[in-house]
Amino acid sequence: MIGNKTRGVAMVTGATGAIGMAIARQLAARVDHQVVLICRDADKAIRCTEEIAQATGNPQVRYELVDLSRRSSIQALADRWQGPVHVLVNNAAVTPRTRQITPEGIELQFATNALGYFWMIEAFTEHLRQAAPARVVNVASYWAGGLDIQDLEFKRRSYDNNAAYRQSKQADRMLTVAFARKLQSFGVTVNACHPGDVNSTLSNNLGFGGHESPDQGARTPVWLATHESVRRHTGKYFEHQREVSCPFAEDLDGVEDLFAACAAYSS
Ligand SMILES: NC(=O)c1ccc[n+]([C@@H]2O[C@H](COP(=O)([O-])OP(=O)(O)OC[C@H]3O[C@@H](n4cnc5c(N)ncnc54)[C@H](OP(=O)(O)O)[C@@H]3O)[C@@H](O)[C@H]2O)c1
Repeated sequence: MIGNKTRGVAMVTGATGAIGMAIARQLAARVDHQVVLICRDADKAIRCTEEIAQATGNPQVRYELVDLSRRSSIQALADRWQGPVHVLVNNAAVTPRTRQITPEGIELQFATNALGYFWMIEAFTEHLRQAAPARVVNVASYWAGGLDIQDLEFKRRSYDNNAAYRQSKQADRMLTVAFARKLQSFGVTVNACHPGDVNSTLSNNLGFGGHESPDQGARTPVWLATHESVRRHTGKYFEHQREVSCPFAEDLDGVEDLFAACAAYSS
């Protein structure tokens, strides 16, 4: 239920992680926002929800349990959801060191990091339209590239978690352009960003540490989700609160091919 003083409902995926929790906390600090943590682990979800509500004084923080690697789980959330969504921050991602398969039979990094973003936007399009002007922020990375449209699940190439991760983050940046074009006339903007280099489970699995704090990593996503100056921007890629040209966005045929390939997983 949206309180009288609530001006917006914001969903943050992966909100039990390093950057996602900081994004959720910074959004909740704007007490006119209801913030919904989209998580898969109930114990972590309860702990993070309580910590954020206590730290911000915002009583309108809650969670929903969803496995973002599974379309059926995302669709179940959309089916039980009532009301508009003003902000959707797609942030959850994984970097398993060995190739893993979801219960729906899809390679786990592609399913979570790319299709998870795709399915969330697809499932919540009507809720975003209801809230328009609404914003989608896709947390991507500068560490992106190597996308092979013929081998999105590493069936032909040997699996390497760095290569699978870079491909998935390229996909996030390309899908940002595709959805921005499709949702523009509905008053829904879609932008992507690199958050920052933060020490986390995800970065450690890739062999990285991180020299920025989770709060620093959250700054650009939260700015894209809320700041007046980027209200009209859509289909763009940002680093450290600056627009950066994205070579993947220029390949519009490739963008549409990837969108079609992802849509095929929904049929
Ligand atoms: N850290 C960096 O230096 C860095 C740099 C560039 C970009 N990024 C991007 O920033 C985002 C956040 O990364 P992070 O470093 O904060 O990672 P993290 O701390 O490992 O957090 C990842 C989050 O995703 C959640 N998640 C993973 N699979 C899920 C699933 N199937 N269903 C639901 N939730 C799932 C995790 O849940 P659990 O807590 O249950 O595991 C966790 O909350 C990612 O998109 C990443 O690509 C990070």
